[in-house]
Amino acid sequence: MNGASGGVGSYAVQLARLLGASVTATCSAGSAEFVQSLGAEEVIDYRRTAVLELQERSSIIFDVASNLSFFKTRRILEAGGRFISLLPSATVIAGFLLAPVLKEKCTFYIVKSVDRDLKQVAQWLEEKPLETPIEITYRLSNVAQAINQLERGGVRGKIAIVVSNGTIK
Ligand SMILES: NC(=O)c1ccc[n+]([C@@H]2O[C@H](COP(=O)([O-])OP(=O)(O)OC[C@H]3O[C@@H](n4cnc5c(N)ncnc54)[C@H](OP(=O)(O)O)[C@@H]3O)[C@@H](O)[C@H]2O)c1
Repeated sequence: MNGASGGVGSYAVQLARLLGASVTATCSAGSAEFVQSLGAEEVIDYRRTAVLELQERSSIIFDVASNLSFFKTRRILEAGGRFISLLPSATVIAGFLLAPVLKEKCTFYIVKSVDRDLKQVAQWLEEKPLETPIEITYRLSNVAQAINQLERGGVRGKIAIVVSNGTIK
């Protein structure tokens, strides 16, 4: 999982583990312990080791940080493996179009709210195998500050916004 410590990755690592995957994750060194605590078996500092230098092949590469090229990462994907990106780019679109003639598959994924999945996530949140890590909480009146912090990057998990009598995550 490339980019495992932020808003998407911190959930994705936990969900992958709950679904039985073993996870190798990238993030900056300061967040390594945090990502390990979410369940990643191996954590790689992307500033020291390029994902493309990994020796082991993966069945799925989930490019949360959306900065990898599908065509370059094919060599660290198992045959039949899947590259998933969250941002459309020329390489992702080309990979998607060429999927029928390549062994490895490339998918662009947009989050969809599926009733059955949301119920499963709600159950995991209630029963606690899934946690929502919140790095910092802001009042609604300081939402601009929260967005600035998100834009600067480096947030571990989520930023929560407190409204009058509850929180929005
Ligand atoms: N398609 C969709 O439906 C959908 C939905 C939600 C979000 N998104 C997109 O998904 C992306 C991630 O969102 P997010 O909220 O998780 O962002 P985020 O909280 O900023 O997290 C970014 C992650 O990428 C890591 N990272 C930064 N530079 C990197 C690099 N050069 N190589 C590898 N990892 C790097 C960060 O690690 P450090 O912080 O440790 O540096 C962090 O783990 C965004 O582009 C967002 O727009 C798409």
